[in-house]
Amino acid sequence: MKVLGIESSCDETGVAVYDTAIGGADGLRAHAVYSQIALHAEYGGVVPELASRDHVRKLLPLVRQTLAEAGLGTGDLDGVAYTAGPGLVGALLVGAGVARSLAWALDLPAIGVHHMEGHLLAPLMEDDPPQPPFVALLVSGGHTQLVAVDAIGSYRLLGETLDDAAGEAFDKTAKMMGLPYPGGPQLAKLAESGAPGAFRFARPMTDRPGLDFSFSGLKTQVLLAWQKSDRADATRADIARGFEDAVVDTLAIKCERALDAAGCDVLVVAGGVGANRRLRAKLQAMCEQRGGRACFPRPALCTDNGAMIAFAGALRLRAGQHDDDAVRATPRWDM
Ligand code: KG4
Ligand code: ZN
Repeated sequence: MKVLGIESSCDETGVAVYDTAIGGADGLRAHAVYSQIALHAEYGGVVPELASRDHVRKLLPLVRQTLAEAGLGTGDLDGVAYTAGPGLVGALLVGAGVARSLAWALDLPAIGVHHMEGHLLAPLMEDDPPQPPFVALLVSGGHTQLVAVDAIGSYRLLGETLDDAAGEAFDKTAKMMGLPYPGGPQLAKLAESGAPGAFRFARPMTDRPGLDFSFSGLKTQVLLAWQKSDRADATRADIARGFEDAVVDTLAIKCERALDAAGCDVLVVAGGVGANRRLRAKLQAMCEQRGGRACFPRPALCTDNGAMIAFAGALRLRAGQHDDDAVRATPRWDM
């Protein structure tokens, strides 16, 4: 089954074609992402109205480009999947409207996909994919969740953040220290040249049982350290390193607890923060020590993309699910 996937929940326009008959990494016939970073940079964050307007401009050209790269025509497609939520409602409506209209015109089934289910299943698009049951850590700009995956489509929430998401903490901390938008990846890059241990911040909520997270206090600790410091470039790198180590350690401690609680040794990591190199290395080492493994999508498929939507949609369409003719956009939606 060849499924066109469309992602437009925030500031990335993503389009892909996934072919379940090929499967694995090769099943991804083509994917393209157009990032709106430059558009929003001067505002220091995503401006919803500008995001919607840019999706309108970019989406159909990107569909055309992706099909050409896959060597396919619209007549080769078997279904269309799109992100139905959660996200910015105007941005979601653009992707949903285009996807539903294409499906109507081509007489294909269409399905609205939960953005976080897309992230969660992205590691299964790689070769030698993990099979449920496993524990998933979803770490993006909007979510930090630990989920027990009993089967594809059967998810139990084990823990989540009580305030900021991990990616949000990266972004806000970076902004506080004067790094340009989008801060998370920039802060991670800066941390690479920071001295480990020069600044030590708390590992929030690790001193008591439970699988929930809290990152907003950590952000305040970093702000105080930054304000008291000489604000030199080297100090900024040291603080960035201290912050990153605190987030990575906290996530690793909770992941290990979640694996213990679920009685399993396979961890699947997805979402934008899953692109963080130190997090990947730490979680991999932790799982290997238990005789298990940690599975990640390639870094380009950690952040928002159309491939994960094509893949998640293909699994659901192949199982016989599809939507009616209504255009679905659900800005707030529990997985
Ligand atoms: O999944 P994603 O692209 O969008 C959401 O659904 O939120 O995640 C974006 C988040 C941002 O907060 C960004 O700062 C963070 O992922 N991020 C990173 C890295 N790359 C992206 N955080 C830490 N280290 C990175 N290398
Ligand atoms: Zn995302």
